[in-house]
Amino acid sequence: MNMNSAELVYFSPTGTTKTIVAGIAEGLGARPSLRDMTAQSGCREGHSAGEIVVIGVPVHAGRVPELAAARLRAEVRGEGRPSVLAVVYGNRAFEDALLELRDLALELGFVPVAGAAFIGEHSFSTPQWPVAQGRPDAADLDKARAFGRLVRELLDGVPKPADLRPLEVPGNFPYRQGVQPSSICPETDAQSCILCGECARSCPSGAITLAEDSVLTEAALCLRCCACTRTCPTGARVMRHEKILEFGRMLSTQYATRREPEFFLGNADCAPQSA
Ligand SMILES: Cc1cc2nc3c(=O)[nH]c(=O)nc-3n(C[C@H](O)[C@H](O)[C@H](O)COP(=O)(O)O)c2cc1C
Repeated sequence: MNMNSAELVYFSPTGTTKTIVAGIAEGLGARPSLRDMTAQSGCREGHSAGEIVVIGVPVHAGRVPELAAARLRAEVRGEGRPSVLAVVYGNRAFEDALLELRDLALELGFVPVAGAAFIGEHSFSTPQWPVAQGRPDAADLDKARAFGRLVRELLDGVPKPADLRPLEVPGNFPYRQGVQPSSICPETDAQSCILCGECARSCPSGAITLAEDSVLTEAALCLRCCACTRTCPTGARVMRHEKILEFGRMLSTQYATRREPEFFLGNADCAPQSA
C-alpha cells in the first residue's frame, strides 16, 4: 500500500502522547504532518492530510478524555484512510480507552489497522511521589518506532487496509464511567505568579483566564490534566488539593512496577503482541 505521508492527530496536555505519536510516525517512515488538537480551536493551526493517520490520546479515568473525543468528532474525518491508534496512560491501566478510540475511529470513517497502549509520566506525578517519572523514555521510544515499523510491514503486505482483519483491542462496552465533575483544580500562588498567562495559553479547555491582578480558574471546565502546573515558569501554579495529593501517593506506591507498551495488530488472531 502506498504510504508516503502520515497525519499525526493528537490531544496531549502534558506532551507524552505527542512524543509517542511522533515515535510511531518515525517507524512508519512516512512524511509526518502534525495536527495538534490540544489547544482550543481558536489557537489551533490549520488542517493537514495524510495517507495514513496516527491518532493519539491520553487515558483519563480509563477512557478517552471527553474533550478529545468531542474535538475529533467535530474536526476529523477518516474518508476510508487507515488509522493507527495510540493511548498513553500513567502506568496504572488503560481499561476501555483503546476500545473507545477504536470505536471512535470507525465512527469517523477510518479503517483502524493497529492499536497500542504506551506509558507516560502520570499527570499527578510529583518529585516526591513519582509515577512513571520520565516516561516515555528511550526504551519506550524504541518501542514506538518498532510499532510503526510493524504497521508499515502489515500494510505493505496487503493491497488495501480493508483487506486486514478488523482490529480487536481489549476493553469493555459499555465503557467504564469517565472523569466525573469536580470542584478540584490547580491553584495559583499569588506571591510567585508573574501574570505571564502561560497557564491560560496551555489550558486545553479554556478554564483559566487572566484578570488584572490574578488568575481565575473555572473548576467546572478544568480537566485536571496539569498542563498549567507543568508549564508555569515560576512554579506558582500548583495542584495541592488533598484528594489529588493522596491519589498521587497511592499511585506512586501501588503502581510503582514498570508496565510496558502493548501492541494490537489487525492481522493477528486477536492475540495481543507485547513489545
Ligand atoms: C484526569 C486524569 C485521569 C487519568 N486517568 C488515568 C488512568 O485511568 N490510568 C492511568 O494509568 N493514567 C491516568 N492518567 C494519567 C495520564 O494518562 C498520563 O499522565 C498521560 O501520559 C498523559 O498524557 P499527555 O502527556 O499527553 O497529557 C490520568 C490523568 C488525568 C489528568
